[in-house]
Amino acid sequence: MNLTVVVPTYNEKTNVISVANAIHNCLAGESFEVLFVDDSTDAESLDILNSLAAKHSFVRVLHRHGEKGLGTAVVRGFEEAKGQFVAVMDADMQHPPEVLAQMLERIREGYDIVIPSRFIPGGDDGGLSPIRKFISWGARVMGQALLKRVRRVTDPTSGFFMMRKNVIQGVVLQPIGWKILMEVLVRGHYQTVLEIPYCFHEREAGASHMSFGEQVNYLRHLASLFRSSPEDRRFYVFCMVGGSGVILNQLIYVALVHMHVMLIMASVISAGIVLVSNFLLNDRFTWKDAAKAQKGARFLRFATVSVVGIGINELVLALLAYSLSVHYLLANLGGIAVATIWNYFANHYLTWNMKREPLSHARPTPEIVYKRA
Ligand code: GDD
Ligand code: MN
Repeated sequence: MNLTVVVPTYNEKTNVISVANAIHNCLAGESFEVLFVDDSTDAESLDILNSLAAKHSFVRVLHRHGEKGLGTAVVRGFEEAKGQFVAVMDADMQHPPEVLAQMLERIREGYDIVIPSRFIPGGDDGGLSPIRKFISWGARVMGQALLKRVRRVTDPTSGFFMMRKNVIQGVVLQPIGWKILMEVLVRGHYQTVLEIPYCFHEREAGASHMSFGEQVNYLRHLASLFRSSPEDRRFYVFCMVGGSGVILNQLIYVALVHMHVMLIMASVISAGIVLVSNFLLNDRFTWKDAAKAQKGARFLRFATVSVVGIGINELVLALLAYSLSVHYLLANLGGIAVATIWNYFANHYLTWNMKREPLSHARPTPEIVYKRA
């Protein structure tokens, strides 16, 4: 078997016959199967799917009893897929089946993952309402900002892609909610990703199942991917250390003031202690794999970077608050954000002298090539 097309379905009785036929027409001559993973709760969907499977040998149906969730349904499909290549596609004809043939051709050329994109020249996302387009844009930008492996993919939130099955061999996929492609991009093993343009159509029948709850799930999923993504974990740990510093700073400051230490003195002492504790934590955890120069030299460099960071924070704050009349709280947050980025990179390259991302032993970080057709 060459290709398994996994189609998750939830109450899609009006669409499944046409999508199965359309896939069959587009993949004529290929050895393929269409694997419906169905969570339907209505009366007829499962019957229609079962009779479809009885009629066509290329159709298989997995029904999950009492389970829901687009992402986990697709993972279930991956587990049962017989093809050496696996595609995912929606049942409602918003993902044009003709594109499957192009994807298969590109996979055969050797790409590990092929993603049809709405957002490269020749692509179009006409099938979403303006409000959904805006939310979808925000979701993409957030994912791209947080996750390095998602950054150069223009359409990472789509539910339409094809991959070699060995991309996920031995990988534990734990999607929260819908965005199975992001899960594959962050946790999978691959070298090459190709994007090809496509037009996202209007839904053929029925209504979208997207909900506010799924948008919250997306944020939870992003947080989980960010914590476990090998490329992004370091920045995550760095932010955790910084957060611990803020809390510790407040605690010591309050304690000292209660002990009748002068305010300025209390502030200087707590800042000094936090400088040391942040250094030790970053040395122990954030850059634990760094080639070690002398500890004293590292601390001096860390302290210098931090002092420059404070300067940057104040500069950005002043610029925002005075020149651009931004609210004083927002201005401070802006300063903190820019200073955090400075601190991270300056510490990475100067304090801990990292040349490039070290390869993790558990899972080598691939040189991923992203291409657009
Ligand atoms: N098995 C299963 N379980 N399938 C589900 C579930 C579920 O809980 N929820 C939704 N589905 C199926 C639907 O039946 C459909 O085939 C597919 O997943 C997509 O659901 P839609 O309700 O059509 O979503 P959409 O059109 O709003 O959004 C889709 O397209 C966007 C653009 O590519 C999704 O694929 C989004 O993830 C994507 O961003
Ligand atoms: Mn849809």
